[in-house]
Amino acid sequence: MPDRHVTSLTIPRPDDWHLHLRDGAMLQAVLPETTRHFGRAIIMPNLVPPVVTAEQAKAYRERIMNAMPPGGQFEPLMTLYLTEATDPADVRHAHEAGIATAVKLYPAGATTNSASGVRDFEKVRPVLEVMAEIGMPLCVHGEVTDSAIDIFDREAVFIDKVLKPLRKKVPDLKIVMEHVTTQDAVDYVRDSVKNLAATITTHHLIINRNHVLAGGIKPHFYCLPVAKRDTHRVALVQAAVSGDKRFFLGTDSAPHIDPLKLQACGCAGIFTATNTMSCLAEVFDAAARISKLEDFASRNGPKFYGLPVSEQTITLTKGDPVSYPTQIETADGPVTVFDPGFDLHWRVTC
Ligand code: DOR
Ligand code: ZN
Repeated sequence: MPDRHVTSLTIPRPDDWHLHLRDGAMLQAVLPETTRHFGRAIIMPNLVPPVVTAEQAKAYRERIMNAMPPGGQFEPLMTLYLTEATDPADVRHAHEAGIATAVKLYPAGATTNSASGVRDFEKVRPVLEVMAEIGMPLCVHGEVTDSAIDIFDREAVFIDKVLKPLRKKVPDLKIVMEHVTTQDAVDYVRDSVKNLAATITTHHLIINRNHVLAGGIKPHFYCLPVAKRDTHRVALVQAAVSGDKRFFLGTDSAPHIDPLKLQACGCAGIFTATNTMSCLAEVFDAAARISKLEDFASRNGPKFYGLPVSEQTITLTKGDPVSYPTQIETADGPVTVFDPGFDLHWRVTC
């Protein structure tokens, strides 16, 4: 059936290859929003203090399992926060013991809680070499932090100044460029032969920088990397709906309570866990490519990570608009759910 006549779609239970669950009351409140539709997620380690060692990742995993809603069948895939002091032997142990799936690289100062990240990439080379040897992927926040570089150019400059040299030095390292936001990144991934993939968020498929800045500043659309001009968003949509195995979903759903978003220096992060699958279905349907949602959300990620595709399924059905809560209540305060700005017609059933 041509895609534009499809009104029901059953796909393997999707995974989220980039997710912030936080800790404590926030974890408790947001975890069910992800476990409702997703089977696994790569869990970001940028807590305060960050999750650096195997032992810390194991303890964080236990806190997540303890917060699991009843009947939840969700597998958190843990990551280690790479610092210049990270011990290669600990990373090897974390991977071999099944504690951590990947390592996360934040350039120091790039985003929320990234102060312990990497300044001198030569210092982490021994860790990267071990990871290449054992096949452990590196998840990269790909933005330079140099204040002289315009914020809209930081991803493209990162590719030239950091990623290209790094991939030359450690060619066997598997790298995920996370939350790509530019045509430049899409082209770079498409031109690669092996060991490189990219995640794309739900919100970067929907908003451009006008959503953030035109007609008044919209803190709930502010995230990092910041949304770019619309031509870049269109390039991301084309990559996502193409079925190309190197592109898959990483929502970067990043909850902050409203008072921390709505202030003079508001936090970066958009919370999309609740309505992501309906938003994505709308985007893929509008591109007449709903049948490719399965590759993007359920198949390409496990393939890159060398994991099995889920044997469970979810079903998306098109009909009257579906409503989602506008906010999630947490014991710390409310978290606003991403507003795509259009009706959502695809209902998810599990
Ligand atoms: O918008 C973002 N929020 N980007 C990031 O890289 C971090 C995240 C967070 O932790 O809030
Ligand atoms: Zn993130």
